[in-house]
Amino acid sequence: MADIFVIEEGRMQRKQEHEKIRSAIQVKYAVISQGAVGKFAYSTGAEGAKALGYDEAVFAEMPDELMQSFCGVGNPFQAGPINAGESLLDVGCGAGVDLIVASRYVGEQGRICGIDMTPEMCAVAKQNISALGLENVEIREGNVESIPYPDNSFDMVISNGVLNLSPRKARAFSEIFRVLVPGGRLQFADIVFEGETARKTPCTLASWSD
Ligand SMILES: C[S@@+](CC[C@H](N)C(=O)[O-])C[C@H]1O[C@@H](n2cnc3c(N)ncnc32)[C@H](O)[C@@H]1O
Repeated sequence: MADIFVIEEGRMQRKQEHEKIRSAIQVKYAVISQGAVGKFAYSTGAEGAKALGYDEAVFAEMPDELMQSFCGVGNPFQAGPINAGESLLDVGCGAGVDLIVASRYVGEQGRICGIDMTPEMCAVAKQNISALGLENVEIREGNVESIPYPDNSFDMVISNGVLNLSPRKARAFSEIFRVLVPGGRLQFADIVFEGETARKTPCTLASWSD
């Protein structure tokens, strides 16, 4: 009995830690939803997108304010082609820059969906999509660990700077593969610490998303 109690207590503690991480991330990204530039150790906004090799012609069409919200850590579009007519999900879509880039690739016959677990980010993304009149782009509030779409919904999943933030990474990947059609593709950009940096970085709430 004692063992069972210890296991249950361990699970409860983990659940509580995950909740703390989630709410710290939501507090942080509610602020970022009002503009990302200058709030990260890496380059963000239009300058960040340019440094990451985004197609300048695509983001030149976007309003400045929208570009200021970009805080991706890499360029998931460089990993492989996205074809006209495909369905695509962006997990952790933020204010929507990658959704809008993706919508240019899939065209009007394609379908683009974005989820983000921070309500303020979803609200900004919805405004941005609606301002550009993109009718085949949908935003839902949701967590990558429990994706609010049925099995086999998408040809492709993309993500940019989000999976490192999930405390349940195995669960996140299993959810991504659940919503992909058989043979579907995942293209994501993210950050990992290795070697000395990994050993020296304290595992604290503050360090989780900095
Ligand atoms: C670094 S930003 C990237 C935003 C966007 N992909 C971009 O490139 O501008 C991380 C985003 O992921 C969201 N996020 C973090 N953890 C998440 C999770 N478990 N599920 C869904 N969204 C999450 C945050 O709210 C934030 O908007």
